[in-house]
Amino acid sequence: MAYNDFNMDSHWLPFTPNRQFRKEPRVFTGADGMVFTTHDGRKVIDGISSLWCVGAGHNRKPINEAIKKQLDTLDYATAFQASNDQAFLAAERIAAMAPGDLNKVLFCNSGSEAADTSLKVALAFHRARGEGHRNVFIGRERGYHGVGFGGMSVGGIPSNRKAYGTALLPRVDHMRFIHDPANAYIHNREPESQEDFLAELENRILPLHDPSNVAAVIVEPVAGSAGWYLPPKGYLKRLREICDKHGILLIFDEVITGFGRMGTNFGADYYGVVPDMLNFAKAVTNGVIPMGGVICRDKIYDQMMKTDAPEHVIEFFHGYTYSGHPVACAAAVATLDLYKQENLFQRAGEMGKVLGDAFHSTFKGLPNVIGIRSLGLAAAVELAPIAGKPGKRAFDIYLDCFKKGSLVRPAGDVLVIAPAYIVEKSHIDTLVNTLADSVKANA
Ligand SMILES: Cc1ncc(COP(=O)(O)O)c(C=O)c1O
Repeated sequence: MAYNDFNMDSHWLPFTPNRQFRKEPRVFTGADGMVFTTHDGRKVIDGISSLWCVGAGHNRKPINEAIKKQLDTLDYATAFQASNDQAFLAAERIAAMAPGDLNKVLFCNSGSEAADTSLKVALAFHRARGEGHRNVFIGRERGYHGVGFGGMSVGGIPSNRKAYGTALLPRVDHMRFIHDPANAYIHNREPESQEDFLAELENRILPLHDPSNVAAVIVEPVAGSAGWYLPPKGYLKRLREICDKHGILLIFDEVITGFGRMGTNFGADYYGVVPDMLNFAKAVTNGVIPMGGVICRDKIYDQMMKTDAPEHVIEFFHGYTYSGHPVACAAAVATLDLYKQENLFQRAGEMGKVLGDAFHSTFKGLPNVIGIRSLGLAAAVELAPIAGKPGKRAFDIYLDCFKKGSLVRPAGDVLVIAPAYIVEKSHIDTLVNTLADSVKANA
């Protein structure tokens, strides 16, 4: 199928119903601030920061200029056995923002690579300290850690796993999901639950595998891709304690919650819990250039360096051709500068309250609404599914919103809005009102 400027025959779109898309293409050709231009000349508000990436909004000159300057200075340099100045600058900045002794940054290019990298670090670290038998990973139901075989295995979204059978890692278990239906409505606060979501970890999962065999537990501080499900108060602190008790590494996947979404540097700061590794991607470069990474605590790096091998031998056999790409690192430094100069994390926290208030006052009582959750600069409205057609109601609403000029995110039968930190109240009003009209239209 051909349009004026492009032919759709060759591009197989990711995580997209391609057959439907070809009938109703949604193609962006430009973006500025909060607004896209589409191939058919329409304006669409980016209500999801282009999947949690574009914290500072689109087309930010300081980031664009830094990239152009870097291209003219050092376009690329091999990442193995040598490095580039921008990689050290970016790592220093990121480590300085991270809590506790999360001080050592391994770069990669995406959240999926960050997940696999962190799992590999966990195995290599335990082996280096003489506990190579620790090779069980524990994730959580409905968790999302990207699409590599490691991340997919510890992830818990059934549709992402069902085609891959025995190719998934064998020694993986999953904790139960954190949603308590008694807490369907969460308004700008941490939920408090009577349910003990970690009892099962302590009483069934760890005894089953024996804690001495467990390498790491990996969780998203807030379950983002599943539809913005919030951990109950105290959950992450207790998870930290359980991991400490048994010598298990705790990995936070902060690909969504990192770099401002919660109004703080990281979710770890919001919840006051320091993991052993912290995975990041997306907003670190404002989404402009792919970058991901894992920030490790000093003890992990130090252990890996404590080896009897001669000095010419690599300590950790892992890395990507584009780890610490100079252009991505220059983009990261410029992005982090911009977040700081414009106080954008604080703004995210403030605008999150505005978004949450708008969600609760607008959606409560609308047809099919069975839950509303807001915290940080993201909010979700959960709808009852159409019988026998899970996800259809939210997808139809998503399409309808797009036609009306608002990009929102369907996740199962949840709709999420998570705008850039520069969002104004007028954008929030438009996004929320458009979504509410579509919820009513699709009742
Ligand atoms: C928590 C989390 N981890 C990992 C990923 C995968 O990131 P990527 O798509 O960059 O591989 C995502 C993507 O949304 C994510 O939300």
